[in-house]
Amino acid sequence: MVEGNKLWGGRFTGAVDPIMEKFNASIHYDKRMWKADIEGSMAYVKALEKANLVTADEREDIYEGLEKVRHEWEAGTFELRPGDEDIHTANERRLKEIIGATGGKLHTGRSRNDQVATDMRLWFKDAAKVLCDHISDLIRVMVTRAEQEIDVLMPGYTHLQRAQPIRWSHWVLSYAAMLQRDVERLEQIKDRANTLVLGSGALAGNPFNIDREFLRQELHFDKISSNSLDAVSDRDFVVEFLFWASLLGVHLSRWAEDLILYTSKEFGFVTLSDAYCTGSSLMPQKKNSDSLELIRGRAGRLYGNCTAFTMAMKGIPSTYNKDLQEDKEAMFDSFDTLNAILQVATGVLSTLKIHPDKMKGALSPDMLATDIAYYLVRKGLPFREAHGMAGLCVALAEKQSIPVSQLSHKDFQSVSSKFEDDVVDVWDYDNSVEQYAAQGGTAKESVRTQISSLRAWLELKCDSGVITRK
Ligand code: ARG
Repeated sequence: MVEGNKLWGGRFTGAVDPIMEKFNASIHYDKRMWKADIEGSMAYVKALEKANLVTADEREDIYEGLEKVRHEWEAGTFELRPGDEDIHTANERRLKEIIGATGGKLHTGRSRNDQVATDMRLWFKDAAKVLCDHISDLIRVMVTRAEQEIDVLMPGYTHLQRAQPIRWSHWVLSYAAMLQRDVERLEQIKDRANTLVLGSGALAGNPFNIDREFLRQELHFDKISSNSLDAVSDRDFVVEFLFWASLLGVHLSRWAEDLILYTSKEFGFVTLSDAYCTGSSLMPQKKNSDSLELIRGRAGRLYGNCTAFTMAMKGIPSTYNKDLQEDKEAMFDSFDTLNAILQVATGVLSTLKIHPDKMKGALSPDMLATDIAYYLVRKGLPFREAHGMAGLCVALAEKQSIPVSQLSHKDFQSVSSKFEDDVVDVWDYDNSVEQYAAQGGTAKESVRTQISSLRAWLELKCDSGVITRK
């Protein structure tokens, strides 16, 4: 009897269309919140006892029954039954099978509306920690590589055109800076999600004067929701998380795109480990960066989840509506997607080989045209004037079909009398990068500062366990 398990069976006489039954069910994906659901119920039954709605014996029966349900999930022996519409229905059905009618007291004053919102927040808090751990692992690899390979120079690009020489480490750490913001952003979202909504009932609140401060403490939330109508349908944290995931996806997609370019024969700056590549079924010479292409591609999927659920939220009338059930698949999928992306990214970066000679070989004197202008600025010329003169030098070299570094002293003098013998120092790429010593630049000292501040940040935020699971 399908109707037998339904939490809302009383008023309904006809059977539900099997297609509707399937359409309505969320158990196949929300069962992954089984733990949060049981935690929420354990706290709730204690609050019921405090409010004299169950006796101490009943509380104990329910609590022990919930323990048994938990063990079944842990052991993988929990059996779903037809009619287990969602995780809340399934757990309560099983509880009643184990302890009998007393199980029916657990839901007193509670609704699946405040229950599901609580479960999701509990699940999300754990999920955020998992992702923070993965991001901090990736940042750690970036910092280690940046330190070990600090002497390697490469072209920096704007518009994908060679622009100015930079340190490879500076490129590596540019992504650590993005990831650092991602961790901080997630921390802020987690702070907002850290609100107890249990005790809001279906929409109007709890009629039994349940002690919500007690529930907050039991479930380790920071604060208590202030309005029950809002609380049962507040999915801001889901939307924020989905957007957060999309933005992290964008950062990693750009990182992947850079590396895909750098692995091509045209660049040849890096070689990926075989562990993260595949071959071609047709062309024996091919080694494709599939890991990176999938990271790049899945950014689209993350945005898809964000757009899909944000659109589902739009126009929902006040309080709970079933549209909200769409929140979970989006949230779980974005979590799973990032969980995989981040671990693969860490694997790729920790095993790739760099080719410093190729990077250096891609540097060319024309990339030092700005440095000619800076040279003249240091000799006292206004930048605008110096920029024009550096341009004249470039044009002169082009006319002679030689690199600008091979212009004669006479040529330089013909452009400006400010040019002296020391202009030859301009053609040294190491000197060039060392100019950028102001905070955040590509000079060695500045890159070292980035490394040490990232290390300190990792220690403070991640290693100490403030935002991660450690
Ligand atoms: N499975 C539902 C969801 O995920 C639980 C809440 C159902 N509430 C209701 N009034 N039908 O949103």
